[in-house]
Amino acid sequence: MSTLLIKNGRIITAVDDYYADVFVKDEIIAQIGTNLQVQADRVIDATGKLVIPGGIDPHTHMDMPFGGTNSADDFESGTIAAAFGGTTTIIDFAIQSKGRSTIEGLDTWHGKADGNATIDYAFHMIVTDMAKERLGELRELRDRGITSYKLFMAYPGVLYVDDGTLYRTFRQAGENGTRICMHAENGIVIDEIIREAVEAGHKDPVWHTRTRPTRMEAEGVHRAIAIAEVAKVPLYIVHLSSHDALEQVRIGRNRGVDVQAETCPQYLFLDSTWYEKPNFEGAKWVMTPALREKWNQASLWQGLKFGDLSAVATDHCPFCFVGQKDLGKESFTKIPNGAPGVENRMSMIFTGGVAEGRFTLNRFVELTSTSAAKTFGLFPKKGTIAVGSDADIVVFDHNRKETLSIHRPHTHHMKVDYCTFEGFEVTGWSEIVISRGRVICEDGKLVTKGGGKFIKRVGAGELNR
Ligand code: URP
Ligand code: ZN
Ligand code: ZN
Repeated sequence: MSTLLIKNGRIITAVDDYYADVFVKDEIIAQIGTNLQVQADRVIDATGKLVIPGGIDPHTHMDMPFGGTNSADDFESGTIAAAFGGTTTIIDFAIQSKGRSTIEGLDTWHGKADGNATIDYAFHMIVTDMAKERLGELRELRDRGITSYKLFMAYPGVLYVDDGTLYRTFRQAGENGTRICMHAENGIVIDEIIREAVEAGHKDPVWHTRTRPTRMEAEGVHRAIAIAEVAKVPLYIVHLSSHDALEQVRIGRNRGVDVQAETCPQYLFLDSTWYEKPNFEGAKWVMTPALREKWNQASLWQGLKFGDLSAVATDHCPFCFVGQKDLGKESFTKIPNGAPGVENRMSMIFTGGVAEGRFTLNRFVELTSTSAAKTFGLFPKKGTIAVGSDADIVVFDHNRKETLSIHRPHTHHMKVDYCTFEGFEVTGWSEIVISRGRVICEDGKLVTKGGGKFIKRVGAGELNR
């Protein structure tokens, strides 16, 4: 049995803000109260600091085969980097190989993660085909704790599925009480635009954004919402990047459709001019959807503030600049899509959200932890500070300033040779990170490695106890 007492902190949840002590016993929050008189194996003094629920990143790709290579972080390095950034749970994406069973895909991802992770993890399942005969697998996945499925309108010939497959999978997922995640972009039209650009001789990274109009993202969002409405399934739009797409979410929600959406820090802070950097450097930010014109950012921040965007994920999918991104030196179409970010999310969102006065501390916690826990069947086990919840806790210094950089190793533990937010000054830093009562990171050092567990999730709207 191990016990931990966190004293004198300011506890922030999605709804509360108060000073109290937190007593942790056997991985679980056992007591919360003022001036608790209990013996503990370890006492942490959190005076002057925030005590917040560990972050939940509902969108990561560790060790993912993509674009002719594999994402650079595996579950070992990626979960350690996540922990340094204040994230204590990730939901990664297992992939069904086309024509094969989704159950086999799940087993493959367990093989990658089990025994290697330092923080807790769960999986969505990427469905790449779903013949009628396979629909029963979705029930088996649900029983194994996989209660959300990502489908792609993008990447024809790779992960793309047609509208019939979307409808079939949506229907079954809805009947099973589970949720659909959607990569919403019209990949078929985008591939035609790319073909035109290539035929015109364009090779540079900037053509990644020029060939992916926001209207094609908005069309995908509109179509996904319409299909989900008819199929009666709760929908979650992943990595929403533009004003046009957000407008479609708003229209759907106003009509009463159960649709939520996430955005990512890269869409809130970076823009399409990043692709114009010389010497192929723009390739670092080749991700899908692409970075947009800067004016979109204000709309996304508003969406976060007023609720049409319900979470901030990272879509962490790192590829090294040297040795991976350069697969696309001769053509932007060959640059592996994705960028690192799992370590940066909490501080970036605290900076843009709270420090810059856009929303409250409570909303910060909701967007970085509680909302994903509720949406994806982890709550109240994860996503809050409450008696009975897992002791996933971050002691967060809301005044500390840091500059993110690959050249400042204490700010960069991801196994990738660049930082997406190189040179950004952030306010707010995860100083002590606790996963199920185990202190993982402290004073910039990893003090516990391994011990992360697979978390079975429950269905949409159910409580995980
Ligand atoms: O560029 C990205 N986003 N790579 C990861 C795959 C995806 O679409 O989420
Ligand atoms: Zn995607
Ligand atoms: Zn992704």
